[in-house]
Amino acid sequence: MTVTREAVIEKLSTIKGPDLKGDIVSLGLVSEIFIADGKVFFSITVPAERAKELEPLREAAERAVKELPGVANAVVALTAEREGGGMGAAPPPRPQQPLRSSPPPQARAPQARPAAKAGVPGVESIIAVASGKGGVGKSTTAVNLALGLKALGLKVGILDADIYGPSMPRLLGIKGKPEMVDSRTIRPMEAYGVHVMSIGFLVEEETPMIWRGPMVMSALRQMLRDVAWPQLDVMVVDMPPGTGDAQLTMAQQVPLAGAVIVSTPQDLALIDARRGLNMFNRVEVPVLGIVENMSYFLAPDTGKRYDIFGSGGAKAEAERLGVTFLGEVPLTIDVRESSDAGTPVVVSDPDGAQARTYRAIAEKVLEKLQTQGAAGRQAPKIVFE
Ligand SMILES: Nc1ncnc2c1ncn2[C@@H]1O[C@H](COP(=O)(O)OP(=O)(O)OP(=O)(O)O)[C@@H](O)[C@H]1O
Ligand SMILES: [Mg+2]
Repeated sequence: MTVTREAVIEKLSTIKGPDLKGDIVSLGLVSEIFIADGKVFFSITVPAERAKELEPLREAAERAVKELPGVANAVVALTAEREGGGMGAAPPPRPQQPLRSSPPPQARAPQARPAAKAGVPGVESIIAVASGKGGVGKSTTAVNLALGLKALGLKVGILDADIYGPSMPRLLGIKGKPEMVDSRTIRPMEAYGVHVMSIGFLVEEETPMIWRGPMVMSALRQMLRDVAWPQLDVMVVDMPPGTGDAQLTMAQQVPLAGAVIVSTPQDLALIDARRGLNMFNRVEVPVLGIVENMSYFLAPDTGKRYDIFGSGGAKAEAERLGVTFLGEVPLTIDVRESSDAGTPVVVSDPDGAQARTYRAIAEKVLEKLQTQGAAGRQAPKIVFE
């Protein structure tokens, strides 16, 4: 049973538009629809300032399409129409963080100075992979970037700092529990030659985790210091989504050499990406660059490129902000399926285009780290008007 574009459109005609007026199809809000291997991709256009409020609309559309027979999965994104001011327009209200409890008071301190942060013994550089909003492909980027750095000959570790929704056990296909080295030190797990620590090794992936501010910090501290990390050239930290206080505290507490921001090309995601940049700026962590993920859609049958989400947004934004553009990763079935199977593309198809893209990103990141190391921590200051 294969699903057709017509069936998808018919189903989407049952989804009411914003303010319950009309339906999203007749209102002309649905982009072109791409179907490949039972997976359906499209976007819905909404006003930028209503993005948060209209998230249920996105979810409803995704759910409805997933219900159709023959649909294995659906990826629906909200796209914003640029209105006059474009990126300069007032950002939408901060997304709600359901699992976050009241923030630790120190995170609010305006003088977010990086106190002399103790490094992690044996670990040369720690870099964060972050994004303003969730679901843009942070974890996918983190894991493939780490494996790309490994392919360049570096000793690499991954710290899954997304204690709310750890992804590393699944992305790397790691099963089982880590061993204790002694009564308080855990040995990291290993996959594809990379050392990994994730809260997901200790609790089931589906267990909802409610963390209070101080617990977040102690979990993170333990994963940094009570883990027997071997000598590492680079540790890649997969950050939780968002730029709230929990993330700010993490960015403050972990001795980061730099941050990589992941964004999709859409205006909405870019607003969040800019917030991500701002966050690292506040804690004086240099931003190594921006990766544009799900940049364009590569049709698996023809190899043809479709810019369904308006590719190039992150590149233009990086240029505007004077931040390095690290590369664009297409939306492909390979990336998704290999992630789901626990064999990231960099190892499952090392000669493929995706793996090359990630290795090129890894090279740029390494280059940035090296020049930055040589220049001391003299990262350019990013100024937002
Ligand atoms: N380039 C890509 N092509 C196809 N699918 C992708 C791509 N990048 C990510 N995905 C898919 O998108 C989904 C979200 O990706 P991922 O989990 O990496 O995002 P995230 O930003 O870490 O999310 P969260 O905010 O929940 O931590 C996953 O199902 C992943 O397989
Ligand atoms: Mg993630």
